[in-house]
Amino acid sequence: MKEFTSVIMAAGMGTRMKSELPKVVHQILGKALVQWVADVSKKAGAKDVVTIVGHKAEQVRAVLGDTCDYALQAEQKGTGHAVMQAAEQIRQKGGVIVILNGDIPLIRAETIQKAIESHCANKNSVTVITAVLEDAAGYGRIIRDDAGYVQKIVEHKDATEAERAVLEINSGMYVFDSAALLYALGQLQPNNAQGEYYLTDTLEILRTAGKAIGAYTVEDCDEIRGINDRVQLAEAERIMQRRVNTQHMKNGVTFILPETTLVEADVEIGQDTVIGPNVLLKQGTKIGKNCNIGAGSQIIHSVLADNVEVLCSVLTDAFVDAGTHVGPFAYMRPNSRVGKNVKVGDFVEIKNSVIGDGTKISHLTYVGDADVGKRVNFGCGTVTVNYDGKKKYRTKIGDDCFIGCNTNLVSPVEVENGAYIAAGSTITDLVPEESLAIARARQVVKTDWKDKRK
Ligand code: UD1
Ligand code: CA
Repeated sequence: MKEFTSVIMAAGMGTRMKSELPKVVHQILGKALVQWVADVSKKAGAKDVVTIVGHKAEQVRAVLGDTCDYALQAEQKGTGHAVMQAAEQIRQKGGVIVILNGDIPLIRAETIQKAIESHCANKNSVTVITAVLEDAAGYGRIIRDDAGYVQKIVEHKDATEAERAVLEINSGMYVFDSAALLYALGQLQPNNAQGEYYLTDTLEILRTAGKAIGAYTVEDCDEIRGINDRVQLAEAERIMQRRVNTQHMKNGVTFILPETTLVEADVEIGQDTVIGPNVLLKQGTKIGKNCNIGAGSQIIHSVLADNVEVLCSVLTDAFVDAGTHVGPFAYMRPNSRVGKNVKVGDFVEIKNSVIGDGTKISHLTYVGDADVGKRVNFGCGTVTVNYDGKKKYRTKIGDDCFIGCNTNLVSPVEVENGAYIAAGSTITDLVPEESLAIARARQVVKTDWKDKRK
């Protein structure tokens, strides 16, 4: 594959988003539009990526970080003017330059590669990526001669009636020979309806200079969808959702009602895992093999080993080891590390805690800031009392402990290996190894109480 540099135009305002944020940092599947474009160009083989920023440049840079180079277009005077701002980098990189748009995130890596192949095979100076649409309104039209050779691109606003009837449109993405691009940029004039420097004019300039120009037409028109408003943003997300879920299915993951499930970008899911309806898997999540993620679960930036079951629960920044069962209605908050074959049952909340292998926390329990050993059994309604109103403290529970129902563990406190706690206890002091702690008032029975009350 030929080496190339991609240049991403991302300086525009995006007024129709009606947003304080620059358009290209809006997300689909948890990833900024411009990041999708940068990632896809790297996937296609781009050696370098140069992003042209302008409107709210700092916020766009903050998203992409140092994964690419930047050019600044301080004032937005058109697509040609935008690319002029990257002229120095284009000169330095040389070779093949692919122009992409920060707001066209659905372009596929294979399409970029095929366009480059076509460009090289035809020895073109520029190859424009085009599509044939049923409704071409608003787009630049590809004007060909009778023999089918591309002559020029005419913007909708500048087009004649006959030109507007053309259904082949300019996607706004191009493959250029760098020297030809630099030459053509030098010739651009803002003589048009919008008074802008049009990148599209480079085609006619190069043809007139005797260079070969061509077009590569995409089969799937979804790939060239630009995002201008939040309706188009949602449509693009739906298309990407279908692509991502389809890829997971091809890798051996079962989805029940995949159209209801949102798996964000760069999530990993192992073979034979089943994802139920209405599941949300957010970025950074890794799920092992043979897991069952039940309907309505939300898993955020968490790692699940193999054979884990999560039923209708919310997990954030959690690690769950193999064979563990979670839910229904469990809530794991950040920094929870749960061992193998653990049971985290209904209405259990875990935060900033380590839970050892084989432990059972079956119902209605809060485990916060705790280090819990192996094979511990929590009775229903146990609470780690980890906060005194000012500071948080840790609770330590050894292996093989039995915590009776409705126990309060007032931290900092320790329960040593093999200890028992009687139901209803409020534990404030060390419970030594193998001992039984009872920390509640004794039951008093008053047989004559009812008579006395009269
Ligand atoms: C452009 C094309 C049109 C094509 C359409 C496809 C031109 C003159 N026209 O039109 O033929 O059919 O895209 O969507 O190129 N941008 C900058 N700086 C600027 C202006 C634009 O960075 O000064 C960026 C925008 O952020 C956007 C891209 O360039 O990502 C395209 O700009 P936009 O104004 O949307 O172009 P269109 O008028 O739609
Ligand atoms: Ca415009």
